[in-house]
Amino acid sequence: MTEVHLVDHPLVQHKLTLMRRKDASTKSFRELLHEVSMLMAYEVLRDIPMHEVEVETPLEVTRGKAIDGKKLVFVSILRAGSGILDGMLAVVPGARVGHIGLYRDPKTLIAVEYYFKLPTDLDERDVVVVDPMLATGHSAVAAVERLKESGPKSIKFVCLLACPEGIAALHAEHPDVPIYTAAVDRELDEHGYIVPGMGDAGDRMFGTK
Ligand code: URA
Repeated sequence: MTEVHLVDHPLVQHKLTLMRRKDASTKSFRELLHEVSMLMAYEVLRDIPMHEVEVETPLEVTRGKAIDGKKLVFVSILRAGSGILDGMLAVVPGARVGHIGLYRDPKTLIAVEYYFKLPTDLDERDVVVVDPMLATGHSAVAAVERLKESGPKSIKFVCLLACPEGIAALHAEHPDVPIYTAAVDRELDEHGYIVPGMGDAGDRMFGTK
């Protein structure tokens, strides 16, 4: 059964509301996405493995906890995933990065792959797939399917907005992949947009419309 984690922290919710505004500038949309992604990283990475290390304070030697950033792989679904990727890398700079290039065929809304590049040794790494919008779910399903071929330790899916249709699609194909989202919106419209949503996340982030 798919776990859906709603990241309902007030800071995340506040920034998400600002991002939804149709008159938010490209600059402000991008900055907010960066901030929300850093905040979401706290929730998404809550259970990653830690190990003990020795640390010398100004007073004595003690032991502290540390994570192994390189055991994490953030996989960005191009192109909109790169906004979340930047925010997550700001808090885990040692993480490895993968990219999956998928575009939505405008007629069928099916995901078509045009680029795929991952770090090696995925069997030793936990993967976090990032894409701001879980809309039809086609890209998410295709990305997770390709990732599973490399046998990662675990896979999580992170978005800002999901809708019932996208959650159902990902759940149907990959019930083992937990979803982290800041909101679950009402529905998908006939053009494949999440409503009320925030429009085309890629265009808003890059100012391409
Ligand atoms: N992709 C977007 O950028 N926005 C949507 O609403 C749906 C898919």
